[in-house]
Amino acid sequence: MKLNLALLPGDGVGPEVLSQAVKCLQAVEETFNHQFIYREAPIGAYAIDKYGTSLPEKTLDLCKTSDAILFGAIGDPKYDNNPEAKTRPEEGLLELRKSLGLFANIRPVKAFSSLSEKSPLKKEIIENVDFIIYRELTGGIYFGEKKTNEDGTIASDLCEYSEKEISRVAHLAFKAAKNRDGKLTLVDKANVLESSRLWRKVVSKIAESYPEVKLDYLFVDNAAMQLILNPRQFDVILTENMFGDILSDEASVIGGSIGLLASASIGEENALFEPIHGSYPQAKGMDIANPVASILSAAMLLEHHSLFEEAMAVREAVDKALKKGVVTTDLNEKSQYGTNQVGDFIADNIVDSDEPFTM
Ligand code: IPM
Ligand code: MN
Repeated sequence: MKLNLALLPGDGVGPEVLSQAVKCLQAVEETFNHQFIYREAPIGAYAIDKYGTSLPEKTLDLCKTSDAILFGAIGDPKYDNNPEAKTRPEEGLLELRKSLGLFANIRPVKAFSSLSEKSPLKKEIIENVDFIIYRELTGGIYFGEKKTNEDGTIASDLCEYSEKEISRVAHLAFKAAKNRDGKLTLVDKANVLESSRLWRKVVSKIAESYPEVKLDYLFVDNAAMQLILNPRQFDVILTENMFGDILSDEASVIGGSIGLLASASIGEENALFEPIHGSYPQAKGMDIANPVASILSAAMLLEHHSLFEEAMAVREAVDKALKKGVVTTDLNEKSQYGTNQVGDFIADNIVDSDEPFTM
């Protein structure tokens, strides 16, 4: 298969972890006889510094003409504590999601048995945890009207949802639940928010077309607690943009490191794959960031293009690295392995298991 891939390294550790994912994709090309074409473009703080905008037009054009986008990370502390900043790195990613219509963000959460000691949660709580968060990605408070009054003493962000925005991501979540354990949990704050009540109305109506799926509801505050009390109860979680952002970071504790969680952002015509972690600026250029989330994002990219065997080969190579202790220091303080070595090990272990063994 031939695929045109846009690479957006972004900020902080983004370029380092993205290179490891590319290494693995190159190993997949070689092992399975595919041709991937990589084209790189600037985004985020890097793009602001160079071109004065976090999403240059050329970057957007490149993404539009690609079969998939692989994204590193975004954000730079020099903008975080500066409320006066005219433009922010994160705007580049938000604009990209909106312009490409990437309305569904899919974040799988799985506990690796080889890492059960790494999580701050007890082993018996995290064992066999396996769920997916479906986060709405182009609506809600992230994209509603933003206002600050004239003297700068009052500010607001509108949380708005339409039936259409809710139903298109809900259908994807129901389909996923149907193919898994048949359980969907809608997380909202319907006891307080009007927009959440619309979510309940729309989602409960859609549930009628998926009789195989059992739908239940959870308020977001309770969901935050249930995620660490009893994460095994979840199969598919469906939620709005900001709740999904917060809960997915919380869920990363289950696996032992946020450096393990991958995500896919899907639209009608485009798809972007990125680790859920941020740009981790303190680690930039130090060769210590965990590349696994980025590599697993590449595996999700392969699955999106129906390259299932190839994705499995990547996942198996990741499992091997974790089992053999070829991990970065977030997973083992004493580890001698850096970002690059972990990436090399995983890429080197990508094999076609159908291929007869030859000496
Ligand atoms: C994420 C990130 C982004 C978000 C930021 C960088 C804008 O935290 O992908 O989860 O809030 O969506
Ligand atoms: Mn986030």
